[in-house]
Amino acid sequence: MVSLRRGAALAPMAGATDKTMRRISAEYGAVCTVSEMVSAKALTMGDKKSPRLVLGAGGDAPYGVQLFGHEPDVMAEGARLLLALRARRPDAAHFDFIDINMGCPAPKITGPGAGSALLKTPVLAGRVARAVVDAVAGEVPVTVKLRIGWDEATMTGAEVARRCEEAGVAMLTVHGRTRQEMYNPGIHAEEIAHVKTSVSIPVWANGDVASVQNALDLLRMTGCDGVAVGRGAMGNPWLFGQIRAALAGEKVPEAPGLCERLAVMRRHVSELCEDKGEYIGMREARSHAAWYLHGLRGAAALRRMCCGMEHFEDLDALIACVWRYQHDEA
Ligand SMILES: Cc1cc2nc3c(=O)[nH]c(=O)nc-3n(C[C@H](O)[C@H](O)[C@H](O)COP(=O)(O)O)c2cc1C
Repeated sequence: MVSLRRGAALAPMAGATDKTMRRISAEYGAVCTVSEMVSAKALTMGDKKSPRLVLGAGGDAPYGVQLFGHEPDVMAEGARLLLALRARRPDAAHFDFIDINMGCPAPKITGPGAGSALLKTPVLAGRVARAVVDAVAGEVPVTVKLRIGWDEATMTGAEVARRCEEAGVAMLTVHGRTRQEMYNPGIHAEEIAHVKTSVSIPVWANGDVASVQNALDLLRMTGCDGVAVGRGAMGNPWLFGQIRAALAGEKVPEAPGLCERLAVMRRHVSELCEDKGEYIGMREARSHAAWYLHGLRGAAALRRMCCGMEHFEDLDALIACVWRYQHDEA
């Protein structure tokens, strides 16, 4: 059983939800975090980079490692390898649950039959879920993140959810779009609600939550047990605490002022460089910095500066520029 406080979880995002983002999200109130997706096949082939994607919860919140693949035996072996890594390196590689990716729309994932392609093959989706549940043998719970269907004609979310529940999956997160809809604006809350009423395990709703009001609306419309936030948390970890406070009936904290926003951005980039080295850290910091600066005056010029950052000092030049823009145009 996955037992989470009512609130907002950090949704898995390849290229974004690394250890640094998980750490900051957990600190600011995410009730759980999930790694970037890792290929079960790559794990079984001894790929050295894959374990690095999932090492380190990066915070105190329950942490899940996300696996993708479509072959039940390979997924089972991938799960066993993750558990072995966790046992070998309890400090560095601890995780609390394994999440199966049944939502990724990218052709390189769906082509072979993984990610959201599993929605086209509900029986196989159930077998994948059962294989992973059996492989972990109760050591950690298994969860699944899925979409509502493959396309309008293949609305299999509820069926896949039922098969996952029968297989022993402990919790589901439902992204309210079909694969065909990719990330187009607008989600189908009623389809998430349909999945929720089709199973008795906890279901978390996902899609387009960028404010407390969005979260409250989505929970009201779907009857779900919590929300998972992806893009809305980029450069905005404060959203987690705001949603948690609203759900607990407490006063919702104000959005941060510019000083705090820049301080957390600086910390985020500094920790990225610590975790990955300055060369990779600063390249990955470009998009994170742009998210933190979203909506500020001079956004286009600031974004261009973000794209050119190579060294940590460039971030301080960017911050000075942010202040100049806000004063010049005040
Ligand atoms: C850049 C990016 C990477 C993503 N990577 C993953 C992933 O690795 N695994 C997964 O299950 N979903 C992934 N997603 C989907 C998100 O978890 C989420 O379902 C989707 O963005 C909708 O939620 P949102 O509107 O809150 O962003 C990704 C989304 C984005 C934008």
